[in-house]
Amino acid sequence: MRILVLGGTWFLGKAIAEQALARGWEVATFNRGRSGQDVAGVQPVHGDRTVHADLVRLAQDGTWDAVIDTSSSELAPRDVLLATTTLRDQVGRWVHISTVSVYEGWPHQALTDGSPLLECPPDADATYGYTGEDGSPTLYGFQKAGGERAVTAAFGDSAAFLRPGVILGPGEYVGRLPWWLERAKRGGRFIAPAPAKQRIQPVDVRDVAQFALDQAASTTSGGYNVTHPVGTSFEEFLSGCLAATDSTGTPVWVEPEVLKEHGVAQWTELPLWRTHAGVWAVDSSRAVDAGLSCRPIAETIRDTWRWWAADGRPVDHPRWAEHGIAPEKEAKILASL
Ligand SMILES: NC(=O)c1ccc[n+]([C@@H]2O[C@H](COP(=O)([O-])OP(=O)(O)OC[C@H]3O[C@@H](n4cnc5c(N)ncnc54)[C@H](OP(=O)(O)O)[C@@H]3O)[C@@H](O)[C@H]2O)c1
Repeated sequence: MRILVLGGTWFLGKAIAEQALARGWEVATFNRGRSGQDVAGVQPVHGDRTVHADLVRLAQDGTWDAVIDTSSSELAPRDVLLATTTLRDQVGRWVHISTVSVYEGWPHQALTDGSPLLECPPDADATYGYTGEDGSPTLYGFQKAGGERAVTAAFGDSAAFLRPGVILGPGEYVGRLPWWLERAKRGGRFIAPAPAKQRIQPVDVRDVAQFALDQAASTTSGGYNVTHPVGTSFEEFLSGCLAATDSTGTPVWVEPEVLKEHGVAQWTELPLWRTHAGVWAVDSSRAVDAGLSCRPIAETIRDTWRWWAADGRPVDHPRWAEHGIAPEKEAKILASL
């Protein structure tokens, strides 16, 4: 197989490039050279995918059996369209990394791969869509839905859309699992969002990468929810963080009403905590039938801590700063209970 990874230096794209090389595939990557190092063994091409001339230069290195597009998280549909139309004749198949945010019903309703999507034209610019008052739908969701349309416009049935919920694992830069690991390591009593039995469905970046490569080599099409089919409870998740960091910290389960009273921001101040009914009710059975295999979350937690601790807390990213509750605010809430 000869594949092109759009991205390829950062979190998911990096995991995809590494695993494709391990399969013995020929791998080209395309990025601006800003976010990370090229993986040893790939054929790197540097350029900006929003610049037509850069894509034309990239196309000259084709052909490829498949593209895996990991680099559209901040791009408008029209930018995705520029890449799909410019590369169309050089590529057999397009595997697009999308998100569960493309669904109209997320995070309020339980979802399948057939649930209705947000409406967004394939040539929309970066202003199309909006973010609702309670954080749903999101501008991001509209834009990613338009990105899917841009892929379909050029590749039709030769396209697959992978829709992860939350991706964790080594290399995570957002600050979700690393923040919980750091909090567990610090020890003492710490806030845990009740109910303890709430199930969550984060998926390991290496399992998403594996599935993306399988899709690149297959002939299937359409959308796949890429969420952990079994998941874990928040209680097991935090026990995993305590075990991985060898900590004696104690979670104190705090009811959602109390957290809301204190103005604790869902999703960010307590990462992975969100009370909407559909957040963790995403059915991934189509992906599982197509080969998605998810490791136990305890393994994701352990390996993330190993990476995080070994690399000396390596992340410097704007999204990191948005995550985690301030120690003073946490102490104040605990004291009030
Ligand atoms: N992280 C999650 O929990 C999560 C959940 C659901 C879905 N997703 C989706 O998963 C995908 C991968 O996410 P990620 O967090 O691994 O990576 P990301 O931050 O979305 O992508 C970064 C990669 O894209 C390259 N890139 C960005 N802009 C570019 C441009 N204009 N031209 C060329 N290359 C460009 C970057 O390299 P340079 O900066 O060097 O150019 C880097 O290699 C995204 O599409 C995201 O929407 C992520």
